[in-house]
Amino acid sequence: MSSGSSSVMDYSKRVKQRDEIVRISTGIKELDEAIEGGVPRGSWIAITGEPGTGKSILCMHYAWAGLKAGDPVVYVTTEAEFRDVIRQARQLGMDFESYSTYDISSSWEPQEPPQIVVVDIFGLLKVARQLSEEHGEEGARRYAVLEIQTLVAAIREAYKILGILKEGGRGVTKHVRLVVDSLSAFWADKPAMARKYSYDLKVSTHRENVTAYLVSQYAMTTKSTFGFGLEHIADGVFHLWMEDVEKAREIRRYMIIKKLRMTNHYRKAFRLDIEPGYGVRLYYEKD
Ligand SMILES: Nc1ncnc2c1ncn2[C@@H]1O[C@H](COP(=O)(O)OP(=O)(O)OP(=O)(O)O)[C@@H](O)[C@H]1O
Ligand SMILES: [Mg+2]
Repeated sequence: MSSGSSSVMDYSKRVKQRDEIVRISTGIKELDEAIEGGVPRGSWIAITGEPGTGKSILCMHYAWAGLKAGDPVVYVTTEAEFRDVIRQARQLGMDFESYSTYDISSSWEPQEPPQIVVVDIFGLLKVARQLSEEHGEEGARRYAVLEIQTLVAAIREAYKILGILKEGGRGVTKHVRLVVDSLSAFWADKPAMARKYSYDLKVSTHRENVTAYLVSQYAMTTKSTFGFGLEHIADGVFHLWMEDVEKAREIRRYMIIKKLRMTNHYRKAFRLDIEPGYGVRLYYEKD
């Protein structure tokens, strides 16, 4: 075979490899089965829904699946301290404490890259202060804790700790899972900015080797204004809800894959249950 034809073959092999979609497990068996094995690597998934529908628990399953697969996790939690995330996860059979964790609010530097990098409200506070000091010379700019630029800087700090953001060069391409629970906290006082902020965040923190779960809280009364910005920029939307509890007189939760790019996904709603010691279980609707 001539060297010419072999290089053509190499090229087509390379193109084929690039076109193959790598699937990232959600940590929930039935969900993986419904989306061709997992979410596409590098995609941004919005988890939307009303209070108590299971959004945070879905994030825990996703992070847990990553840890088991050897993926580092960047866990941003504005809703609860990470200690409470650990506690909740433990009740559902996931032991986050068995993995090394580094909180960006710490005053020490990690000796080696941790398996989990935590960004909670204290981490965001530290980053907001640093940013305000750095821009203090020019005066007026003060960064708020729940401001999208503060979040961007905190996530970039986490990438640096994990060694995927190399100064002046290409980073290593280890796969990382990013969880932001919740993103709507960053536009709670200005819902009209949801789309712009989501876009700003994606532009600054999206990487081919980072697959993200981003939670958007829907308020019952303001469904559309609250969640829509993120839904547009996301590659996938998993939407959760529950039946009117006053009518049903019990909690009946559902989840639907509203969209998932590059995937022939299940198109009906699942019944969703949260079981002690196990976590989320999804049930296919009977025809
Ligand atoms: N150990 C457990 N066993 C069974 N069910 C549990 C357990 N812990 C929590 N739950 C259920 O999960 C619900 C909370 O789910 P989750 O925190 O994921 O909701 P959420 O959608 O993130 O809500 P929010 O918008 O308020 O943050 C609880 O209200 C409870 O019904
Ligand atoms: Mg939650």
